[in-house]
Amino acid sequence: MGSTARPFDKYDAYARSVQASRDEAKFLSAVYRDVSGQEPKTLREDFCGTYALCCEWVKLGPEKRAIGIDIDREPLAYGAHHHRAALDAHAQLRVIAHQRDVLKGPLPRADVICALNFSYFCLQSRQSLLRYFKSCRRSLSPGGVFVVDTFGGPQHHEPSLDTRRLPGLTYYFEQEFFDPISNRTRFSLHYKPLGGRIRKRAFTYDWRMWSIAEVRDVMLDAGFKDAFVFWEGTARDGRGSGRFTRKERGEPCQVWVAYVVGRV
Ligand SMILES: C[S@@+](CC[C@H](N)C(=O)[O-])C[C@H]1O[C@@H](n2cnc3c(N)ncnc32)[C@H](O)[C@@H]1O
Repeated sequence: MGSTARPFDKYDAYARSVQASRDEAKFLSAVYRDVSGQEPKTLREDFCGTYALCCEWVKLGPEKRAIGIDIDREPLAYGAHHHRAALDAHAQLRVIAHQRDVLKGPLPRADVICALNFSYFCLQSRQSLLRYFKSCRRSLSPGGVFVVDTFGGPQHHEPSLDTRRLPGLTYYFEQEFFDPISNRTRFSLHYKPLGGRIRKRAFTYDWRMWSIAEVRDVMLDAGFKDAFVFWEGTARDGRGSGRFTRKERGEPCQVWVAYVVGRV
């Protein structure tokens, strides 16, 4: 008799362990409203992977449109089958994904452009980061915002392993090395489905950990009028609260996550 276990789905594991697409869609919309006083229509999600965020964005209202950009055909195909296909027919028409390199513009215009889950950390030279930020600035509509997330803290200045148990799945977030001279680092995501074998390095990222100060400076050099920071609040148990507010000063923490927003 054959096994009845479902095959391991690494994109589903990724979504459950590291993404919060619905909350992020609402957050991006709120940031734009804050800055421009209007409701945003078009989102461009760079490094979109399975474009789960694009699909959440169009659920926010019938005026919303989303464009995903990713260089890799595999996550885009997964997104088409699993996220886009789950939308109603009208919403499906308002989402499009392109297999493109974000460094090879011009890319489509939008009210909000984002590069989330630290995906722009794959750009390891200041020159390539500046080129990318400039191209984003040029493709924002008037009043538009460019939003990236960033993380850091002393815990990420050395190898580490975080383990989290989710229903039916254990998730491991491993920092394999960190070089304090270049800030180059490698992170891997491993998964162990309940009753199944471990999937080591389901995703691996060779990144440069850009600091908030560097990201702000590069945004300003790229021609953004302003670059400001949304810092995460602290919950009662001392962990991040998941609520982000605009701040000029952060608090030292072992690990922190923040958004940096460039305004045109
Ligand atoms: C960490 S995943 C991010 C997925 C998604 N943004 C999220 O929030 O979870 C990084 C994605 O960036 C894509 N990528 C890497 N370099 C790229 C490039 N130069 N242009 C477009 N996409 C790229 C990869 O194919 C991968 O799907």
